[in-house]
Amino acid sequence: MTFGKGFQMRKIVVIGCGYVGLVTAACLAEVGHTVFCLDVDEKKVAALRRGKVPIYEPGLDELVVKNTALSRLFFTSSYEEALQDALLVMIAVDTPPLKDGSCDTRNLKRAAQMIGETMTNDLAIVTKSTVPVGSAQLISSIIASSLQKREVNFWFEVISNPEFLREGHAIADFMHPDRVIIGLESERAEEIMRTLYQPFQHTPQTLLFMDVASSELTKYAANSMLALRISFMNSLTSLCEKAGADIESIKRGIGSDSRIGPAFLNAGCGYGGSCFPKDVKALEQMMRSFGVPSDIITAVDTQNEQQKRMLGLKILSFFENQGGIYDKTIAILGLAFKPDTDDMREAPSLVLIDELLKRGASLRLYDPVAMENTKKILPSSSRILFCESEEEALTGAHAVALVTEWQQFKTLDYKNLIQKMKGNAFFDGRNQFSPEEMGGFGFTYISVGRKPFQAEKFPIDMPQRVVYQS
Ligand SMILES: NC(=O)c1ccc[n+]([C@@H]2O[C@H](COP(=O)([O-])OP(=O)(O)OC[C@H]3O[C@@H](n4cnc5c(N)ncnc54)[C@H](O)[C@@H]3O)[C@@H](O)[C@H]2O)c1
Repeated sequence: MTFGKGFQMRKIVVIGCGYVGLVTAACLAEVGHTVFCLDVDEKKVAALRRGKVPIYEPGLDELVVKNTALSRLFFTSSYEEALQDALLVMIAVDTPPLKDGSCDTRNLKRAAQMIGETMTNDLAIVTKSTVPVGSAQLISSIIASSLQKREVNFWFEVISNPEFLREGHAIADFMHPDRVIIGLESERAEEIMRTLYQPFQHTPQTLLFMDVASSELTKYAANSMLALRISFMNSLTSLCEKAGADIESIKRGIGSDSRIGPAFLNAGCGYGGSCFPKDVKALEQMMRSFGVPSDIITAVDTQNEQQKRMLGLKILSFFENQGGIYDKTIAILGLAFKPDTDDMREAPSLVLIDELLKRGASLRLYDPVAMENTKKILPSSSRILFCESEEEALTGAHAVALVTEWQQFKTLDYKNLIQKMKGNAFFDGRNQFSPEEMGGFGFTYISVGRKPFQAEKFPIDMPQRVVYQS
């Protein structure tokens, strides 16, 4: 296969068949590369060989099935099979947080060890996983000592190429990234990386070359900056509620300033997922380990932990003067950490569920795609009902809590749904509706950083008269 300046691109190996590895492998195969995707999880590999993609990511199933059929995408658990004659290997293993928040690099080290023990020729080794500064050196030393033990001498270079894709938009993000960050040392490595990305027809400005340490830190800096913007807005929400201001107006007011911009200014019940929480904590630990102040980063995380509890506290305080939460049923709309994914890692819904269960509430849960993953995580309880639709979740509930802003929740027929409920409280953790609109359906509507809308009575007789509470 020939790409770029007559460069012969041999096979590419992607280690890790998770969100990043699978998307990377499928997209590289889609533009014509031959890709071996490797995972230690043999069940996952067997399923992928049958065309069964273990995660929900729009468009991914089609790419996997198509490129497997075209013999451009292969799945294996064997490092020997994958690395035989490979030109380039991309490491996309998970790097979860340790108890103290620092990055657990054990999977990374295992992958490096296996590469050193099985590589058969010169090899470019690309780190896609999010890894602490200094990881490329660590991988290099593991591989170098393996090669020394084997008494073989191959050229290799560890290149940092952190991934920025967003779950739910992963294919588009990989195919059309804002920029591709690449940290490397040699011209040989640069030529390989230019060739790798050449079929995507990026502009020269899309590939940003830099030193390895800067590239490794760029990933943490990007995620922490985005998390900081969210936590900053969340830190204003209590003030807004007490002062009678509206966080959504403030968002419009500052987001229209071209120096600030509108992205990542959404106040709500906190960020979750596999990246922001762990990357913020890991950056904080990295700063500590280098003996530099980490106060701003610490505050981002602390604010988020508080924010994740905020919706539960609002629900508890609402029911305090209505006989308590003990015999109440709460419908929860949205469980995944964000829309368009089934990923439950660090999902704010889990904090809410835990809080409400502890206080004796019964829960009716619904998410368009994350039900199976949620069932695996939650303890079995007679007070949890997994529902098949929004309507089933809301039926008989005293209150609704919207936690994940799935688009389909915006267009539900709330005017009719409220009739099926036992109560009329709506807690919107993502500010998806206008208070007046929800008040018009008869809800007492409580959101984040905005004035609530207090419905006067229940059961309702549409249109419900609502009293605006200042
Ligand atoms: N998920 C995201 O949205 C996202 C975005 C950008 C970057 N990242 C980063 O990318 C990395 C991977 O994240 P993910 O969400 O794809 O993880 P994941 O948990 O979905 O997948 C990781 C896969 O690696 C496999 N694995 C672990 N150790 C292995 C080894 N030694 N050899 C072979 N396979 C091994 C696991 O079995 C698993 O299937 C992490 O560092 C993460 O921070 C994730």
